[in-house]
Amino acid sequence: RPGWPGIINAYRDRIPLPEGVEVVTLHEGGTPLVEARHLSELTGCRVLLKVEGANPTGSFKDRGMTTAMTLALANGSRAVICASTGNTSASAAAYAARAGLTCAVLVPTGKIALGKMAQAVAHGCRILQVDGNFDDCLELARKTSAEYPITLVNSVNPIRIEGQKTAAFEVCDVLGRAPDVHVLPVGNAGNITAYWKGYQEYAADGVIPALPRMFGIQAAGAAPLVRGEPVPAPETIATAIRIGSPASWGGAVAAREQSEGLFEAVSDEQILAAYKLLASREGVFVEPASAASVAGLLLTSADGRLSRGSLVVCTVTGHGLKDPDTALRGLPEVSVLPVDPGAVASALELG
Ligand code: F0G
Repeated sequence: RPGWPGIINAYRDRIPLPEGVEVVTLHEGGTPLVEARHLSELTGCRVLLKVEGANPTGSFKDRGMTTAMTLALANGSRAVICASTGNTSASAAAYAARAGLTCAVLVPTGKIALGKMAQAVAHGCRILQVDGNFDDCLELARKTSAEYPITLVNSVNPIRIEGQKTAAFEVCDVLGRAPDVHVLPVGNAGNITAYWKGYQEYAADGVIPALPRMFGIQAAGAAPLVRGEPVPAPETIATAIRIGSPASWGGAVAAREQSEGLFEAVSDEQILAAYKLLASREGVFVEPASAASVAGLLLTSADGRLSRGSLVVCTVTGHGLKDPDTALRGLPEVSVLPVDPGAVASALELG
């Protein structure tokens, strides 16, 4: 969007940053809200996709990282640290590079999608692989930042939530209201907390007349909120949400309860089916974790918990290019053709 100034400048009066700060931005936010015609037909609802893969580093994390890095810089921090399943680290690395801060990322060994690792390498952050899962990495990052002069930029840092809530503002600004239902994937639960905060602020100020119901979708092998207790060894193909002990547990539960929403779990098979459907029928290529929201949409529509006729927004949180390995799994054998139109025609069965 030409002229879009990034989320801090777009919503300056709603973001609690000190006056006159130097804003660290890559003009994140202002992402498309796309009509999903096939999903609308399947569910009998009007379904829109909030395409967060269109952010500068390819995920919604940029909304929270512009605020986190702006505040870190204003506070005189020299270095930042985060734990990550890949997107937070990619975003932190990019914004730290822009701010001139040193960035360290703690990631679970072997469980980061290829594109995300490529971003961390390209932006030149310190990548520390940990022999543990995301939950272990987060504990380590928290302890390190408590004891050493390094700022934590995970979503337990409240300024991250203040940035991420702007996605809810954008949805309302486009629709002129909140949707009836907002569906999103849940891992560490910062994002559902942030959306709910955004919707509540708009409702309190009379910008929207009513609040949406929040549907939080987790992967079946990493569904602590659905089960009601932490999962010690989370596992799912959706590595971004492979989290057993969400830091914003309370925020997610409040969003579900206050909005009369729900938590639901979807299997890896359901995630992959939604992933393929989004790419092949809607033209929207997302990473597996993002497809969890759409798998949850299909599940709750099929069993009647999502009423027909609802206005639904599904957040798809990250770009498909983040995880090329999943896209290329089961790649059909591609034959090599001679430079000959006849060969192309016969390969395409054009007769
Ligand atoms: N979708 C994607 C693509 C993510 O990267 C994440 C979280 C989520 C959904 C879940 O959001 O944690 O706010 O509930 N990724 C974090 C990371 C954990 O390190 O990149 P959440």
